[in-house]
Amino acid sequence: MTDPILLNNGVPMPPIGLGVFQSDPGETAQAVETALAAGYRHIDTAAGYGNEREVGEGIRRSGLDREQVFIETKVWVSDYGYEETIHAFEKSATKLGVEQIDLLILHQPMPQHFDRTVEAYRALEQLLADGRVRAIGVSNFMPHHLDGLGERSSIVPAVNQVELHPYFTQPAVRAADARLGVLTQAWSPIGGITFYPGWGEGRKSVLDDETIAAIAAEHGRTRAQVMLRWHLQQGRSVIPKSTNPERIAENFDVFGFELDEEQLRAIDALDRGVRGGPDPDEVDPSTWGLEIPEA
Ligand code: A2P
Repeated sequence: MTDPILLNNGVPMPPIGLGVFQSDPGETAQAVETALAAGYRHIDTAAGYGNEREVGEGIRRSGLDREQVFIETKVWVSDYGYEETIHAFEKSATKLGVEQIDLLILHQPMPQHFDRTVEAYRALEQLLADGRVRAIGVSNFMPHHLDGLGERSSIVPAVNQVELHPYFTQPAVRAADARLGVLTQAWSPIGGITFYPGWGEGRKSVLDDETIAAIAAEHGRTRAQVMLRWHLQQGRSVIPKSTNPERIAENFDVFGFELDEEQLRAIDALDRGVRGGPDPDEVDPSTWGLEIPEA
């Protein structure tokens, strides 16, 4: 187990979180309970995933105290705006069954309605001041979104959660995050977006990459473990998603080996510069309509 990463406001965050995007609500509580039994202490969910209730249930079933588990969730774009986002916090906290959320982030920049994005972020700042959340951040922000937000807010986001795997390594976002003191957190850290059913047709799965396979063979580790190591050694947080108990354990068992500089560089060089997920400049309620139900 590695040490927690200290966020830019001093709050410690375990670097590996269990991801639950596309985890069936029926499987989510079990996956969360399994992960916590395997040693995970961080769960990443989102209002838009429709499984916050089950995440809360899995945490309660684990028997761990509330303060032992770091809970991260996201506000969906249809809830942006000051009052709307304060209310979105209430919805998420109630579904999760908690008083306080450890890390609350904006799910998308929503550039077509950036005023509402800024208002939503202002609500996060207020929730932080009121102690309802311990840290605030953003997701899918590109450098121009970070700069645009920075001009109109006072608290630097603690985290920017973005698509990041060996085929899409986001050098510009990582540089902007580093310049501002924002921790980069990778979604799809093992490249699930390159092979999700319904998303990945015609794409090459990162899990089939020959370079990663060769490095994995050298260490007697799996390809997923090599990718997670690559992130961690470069200082990123990761949130690999799995509902499978073996893979949940595998993705956490990444502390007993180390990639060397040459291996890290070889993985860096796999970048294709092509994202698998949606373009953050194009996500808003008209393209990704989704109402977040009341608690
Ligand atoms: P499953 O839930 O059946 O394990 P990402 O987090 O990069 O988006 O990847 C998630 C996808 O990768 C899911 O389809 C998940 O399926 C699968 N997955 C998770 N862990 C592993 C692993 N260690 N090896 C292979 N596939 C994995």
